[in-house]
Amino acid sequence: FDAVDVIRAKRDGQELADAQIDWVIDAYTRGGVADEQMAALAMAILLNGMSRREISRWTDAMVRSGTRMDWTAAGRPTTDKHSTGGVGDKITLPLAPTVAACGAAVPQLSGRGLGHTGGTLDKLESIPGWRASLSAEEMQAVVRDAGAVVCAATENLAPADKKLYALRDVTGTVEAIPLIASSIMSKKIAEGTGALVLDVKVGSGAFMKDTESARELARTMVDLGSDAGVRTVALLTNMQTPLGLTVGNALEVRESVEVLAGGGPEDVVELTVTLAREMLAAAGIDGKDPAEALRDGSAMDVWRAMVTAQGGAVDAPLPRARETHTVLSPADGVLSRLDAYGVGVAAWRLGAGRARKEDTVQAGAGVEIHVKPGAVVAGGEPLLTLHTDEPERFDRALDALDGAFTIAPVGSRPDLLPLVID
Ligand code: URA
Repeated sequence: FDAVDVIRAKRDGQELADAQIDWVIDAYTRGGVADEQMAALAMAILLNGMSRREISRWTDAMVRSGTRMDWTAAGRPTTDKHSTGGVGDKITLPLAPTVAACGAAVPQLSGRGLGHTGGTLDKLESIPGWRASLSAEEMQAVVRDAGAVVCAATENLAPADKKLYALRDVTGTVEAIPLIASSIMSKKIAEGTGALVLDVKVGSGAFMKDTESARELARTMVDLGSDAGVRTVALLTNMQTPLGLTVGNALEVRESVEVLAGGGPEDVVELTVTLAREMLAAAGIDGKDPAEALRDGSAMDVWRAMVTAQGGAVDAPLPRARETHTVLSPADGVLSRLDAYGVGVAAWRLGAGRARKEDTVQAGAGVEIHVKPGAVVAGGEPLLTLHTDEPERFDRALDALDGAFTIAPVGSRPDLLPLVID
């Protein structure tokens, strides 16, 4: 095969043959297809799309670029969740232990944050001593002993995607549904889970800003999972406003622990329980109520075992930022909008997120939310508290919040999207 022929075929709107797809993914992974050629092909895919067969084969070729993990030794059905990413989305932290407490094994390979969305590993790393990188043997041991593991993917998990995602990031080719769907699903299929629940976010804080494109992404990913023998379902959920009352690494761990202790914000509890039910159903486990696992302490027991197994000091105080600044409501009224993207960018600028992969994050930085959309507020009442170690960051964070919330007149009833859209 010749890379230029493959690029020309996709440029001219043709379907790629299975053998062409297998060859191009394999050759790119080994360095036989150059970055500029793969970038041209990615752009042709973005512009001309791919058929279901092409996406499925592309995904499978990326899975085969590395190893597919096997969890049979865990002795229980495996089930996992993937979120397409949002602001304040800490759901994995209470969810993985809850589902394990109900009898499933949860092998969750996670990522770090980039841009305005946070990453699960960054959040967990705010726990003193906690280690994200485990060997394959260590992962198996944590799943066997604790029931769930949340850790970094090994180098050999879909290496074609690692290379391609980094290339797409710098060539304006991230935003193509076939490429997003195959990227996410190649990693989840290679992870070896038997069942998968996709939490596809919709709204300003998400990849997909409208319900129709989120639905198309969800359908594409569900098809890919089914084609690969993974029982896959998807939920479309609201990312117009942040989840819960905290955005930022240690702040989100604190809130997750509150949920595991049977408390925590209503929306975080509702989404945790909803996703847990779907994960258990997809794994064929019934008779266990995840809400009960949060109330009776069994989810908390799994959390403690899981964090401890990865070196985390589970009872140690979480880091706190050195400086805070409070944003007050400018008027009496009803908070009708608190924009997820604006809050996400503010948290990022306070030091909770990174602009480049090499950047470090501040454990204590972020935004604490005092009032959620729909609530009545008085002028001068605190809306948000900003946290950072570096007070010079407050100005740019406040710029991001300019226009990010609306106080509607007293008595108004804002039209808010439900938490679970579909
Ligand atoms: N997340 C991924 O892992 N890949 C994408 O392409 C987009 C989001």
